[in-house]
Amino acid sequence: MRHLMSPLDFSTEELDRLFALAEDIEHNPAKYAHVCDGKKLATCFYEPSTRTRLSFEAAMLNLGGRVLGFSDANSSSAAKGESVSDTIRVISCFADICAMRHPKEGAPMVAASRSSIPVINAGDGGHQHPTQTLTDLLTIRAIKGRLNSFTIGLCGDLKFGRTVHSLINALVRYDNINFIFISPEELTIPDYIIEMLREKNVSFREVRKLEDVMPSLDILYMTRVQKERFFNEEDYVRLKDYYILDKEKMELAKPDMIVLHPLPRVNEISVEVDDDPRAVYFRQVQYGVYVRMALLLTLLEIEVSDFEQEDIKTC
Ligand code: NCD
Repeated sequence: MRHLMSPLDFSTEELDRLFALAEDIEHNPAKYAHVCDGKKLATCFYEPSTRTRLSFEAAMLNLGGRVLGFSDANSSSAAKGESVSDTIRVISCFADICAMRHPKEGAPMVAASRSSIPVINAGDGGHQHPTQTLTDLLTIRAIKGRLNSFTIGLCGDLKFGRTVHSLINALVRYDNINFIFISPEELTIPDYIIEMLREKNVSFREVRKLEDVMPSLDILYMTRVQKERFFNEEDYVRLKDYYILDKEKMELAKPDMIVLHPLPRVNEISVEVDDDPRAVYFRQVQYGVYVRMALLLTLLEIEVSDFEQEDIKTC
């Protein structure tokens, strides 16, 4: 039985297979409409979420399965003091697979160690968000046609943004990726990630001004300042509008640069950018459903007979 805690839990070959499956699902949805008939997904969300939880639920419903769960720690037995380990042992009796989001880093890992069903980390504190990373990689692969040889700017809250941490971890396994980290001094990328990049000899630099690097980017990954992880309101208010991507800044970018954002957006991308064909963050949401469908099938070990190994393109 396999769980998904980090994007590194899959080798790049396994990711190629997963993405090929997601692409097949995108093009042949009818073929997959009943492959999970009789299966149940539990969504255990101890922290607010709209798209991740609904994306998981839509994924299971699209496969013919059913969903159950909770979206607020206060409406679960956690409010009575139940441990995550006990909760997952109970959920294991109700469902075939579980997606868990938790404010504590490592909580889904603890759950996985006691679970008799596959557990998917749907975001743990400021640590990892592997299914957002699968979504980001599938989006890049589908639009750019490759997962290597590009310059990616990650902009905003690089300290607390778990989507950023997971994406960097996943991308370092591909060739010729050049990272540019764009953040205020207070929200720079954690040291452990910088050390990992140095160890692996991956090219990166840290800058403060988005305008200066716009012309060199192939991908711009915007993020929101993570209000819920700040210790004081004043710091959040001071930093929340540090970067605002608008039409003017978009004019500095390459004609084929793409803008990603895990969403929710607050102010960091002006709505006027939404109509720019390079703004792909709403398409990214759709890819998130396809990749979660592929992930559910993979972890549930459900083979779809006419999805062949030959369909898999290496990126
Ligand atoms: C992200 C998250 O929860 O980390 N959202 C998401 O799952 N798409 C990003 C965020 O909340 O800023």
